[in-house]
Amino acid sequence: MSETIHVAAGTEWWRNAVVYQVYPRSFADANGDGTGDVEGIRSRIPYLTQLGVNAIWMNPWYPSPLLDGGYDVADYRSIAPMFGSLDDAKRLIADAHDAGIRVIVDLVPNHTSWDHKWFVEAVAATPGSAARDRYIFRDGKGENGELPPTNWSSVFGGPAWSRCEDGQWYLHLFDISQPDLNWTNPEVRAEFCDIFRFWVDLGADGFRVDVSHGLIKDPDFPDVDLASEILTVGHIENHPHWDRDEVHEINREWRAVLDAKEVELGRELMMVAEAWVKPESVPLYLRPDEYHQSFNFDFLGCPWDITQMRSSINRALVDAASVGSSATWVLSNHDVVRHATRYGLPEGTDYQEWLMHGSAELCDHTLGVKRARAITMMLLALPGSTYIYQGEELGLHEVHDLPHEVLDDPVWRRSEHTRKGRDGCRVPIPWTTTGASFGFGSDGSWLPQPSDWGAQSVEAQDGVAGSVLELYRSALALRAASWVDSGDLNWLELDPHAIAFERNGYVCITNFGDSDIQLPDGDLLLASDDSASIAMIAANTTVWIKRP
Ligand code: GLC
Repeated sequence: MSETIHVAAGTEWWRNAVVYQVYPRSFADANGDGTGDVEGIRSRIPYLTQLGVNAIWMNPWYPSPLLDGGYDVADYRSIAPMFGSLDDAKRLIADAHDAGIRVIVDLVPNHTSWDHKWFVEAVAATPGSAARDRYIFRDGKGENGELPPTNWSSVFGGPAWSRCEDGQWYLHLFDISQPDLNWTNPEVRAEFCDIFRFWVDLGADGFRVDVSHGLIKDPDFPDVDLASEILTVGHIENHPHWDRDEVHEINREWRAVLDAKEVELGRELMMVAEAWVKPESVPLYLRPDEYHQSFNFDFLGCPWDITQMRSSINRALVDAASVGSSATWVLSNHDVVRHATRYGLPEGTDYQEWLMHGSAELCDHTLGVKRARAITMMLLALPGSTYIYQGEELGLHEVHDLPHEVLDDPVWRRSEHTRKGRDGCRVPIPWTTTGASFGFGSDGSWLPQPSDWGAQSVEAQDGVAGSVLELYRSALALRAASWVDSGDLNWLELDPHAIAFERNGYVCITNFGDSDIQLPDGDLLLASDDSASIAMIAANTTVWIKRP
């Protein structure tokens, strides 16, 4: 029995792109100051070309006090001096374009840094002033306004409100240094339309929009039922600040800006939403006059479970097609424990708890990487685009044992040192087997790298048959020649322990069980594990086959 899933028509580049996420601080350090930079990224374009990616997404590279890794933006139209200059960014974009690689920049509209000139002005201004109206300032509750206006929590821990010297409170859904903007203020709206235009004019091809589900707040500012609240995923109906209907109006405003620029410049543009919302809400962000794509966090959150994964895939494909969009596949990013580690930990592990108190031995590294290889091949064969987080192509694991004194994530500060946060997935990339910072730069690195990092480096894997890097290179090249133009998907019922599908004569099978599965007839194009026998598909392995 097979069931066909239709793929929406369209030839735009983003529909099937492989997008490589660059965390600028940790990718490559050209000037030897221990922090990655734009020149470092530019010097690695040949590496990205050889890998076979179609686009890069740059995490924030703007001037920032870096109190949340750059998601605290002080100036949206410039580059942080530690990363380089606007001219460096222009050169990077030009070189990427010459190599056929598009560039997506990260836009952070929910909040600015407290160093942004608007916030500095707002704090100096009086309650009720126009400067304060660009943010969300309120009087407090209690006899003397000494209590926060609502009981809302910051995603990073602690209350979402902080008090100014004159007694008013300002809202920050994230760090205290990230005041939320007021998206009902016309000046704020106009400013961001202009920022979109600024980066498009500079050469950007797309935007990853941060916290796109959080911009609008309930004007009545009600309290929330904290006991039943899940902070990052909008599971509560009519939540006071997550996934409110009015955000769609903003999405449409931006889409109109991009559509107009597309016509003006004759270049296809896109925006992808970071919307941590319930799966039912995702297609609403993908309507033809809203986002082009949205990250599929539902799949990222699936444990190693065939039933959950298959139903998540099915839903993402059907939902995307229902609104003419394309699905996205993402396993890791700068906010989550690396997936090679997740798949090596026992099911149900609380990752933050493990990072704080768990033993390294709890993670079966070999199994984690084997599963990571298998899942990556499965995702690359599916309709839609795949987002790769830097270092996953080396099979990197989460760095579990970063010493407390180097932790930089606001989660660590705001949780009062009870949660380590996300630094373990942000450790600088190893490029060489030896040397200072394993080729990341000429000196140290802003977060310490594990001593065995060299064995995972690009140099250690380059040209080595069976390495994770060579698997990614082969898979991306084959994908471009096969799956990308293969259209609709037919689910295949080959084995109860397999996720299997066919697209235009190409078959992808992933074995989730414990025992081998018989390989169907056809030419074996690639296996995620080269120890696979010719006749059987081993456990935790994916194969690609061309039907005879
Ligand atoms: C997004 C970013 C994350 C950041 C947060 C606040 O979730 O991915 O890194 O901390 O927004 O901007």
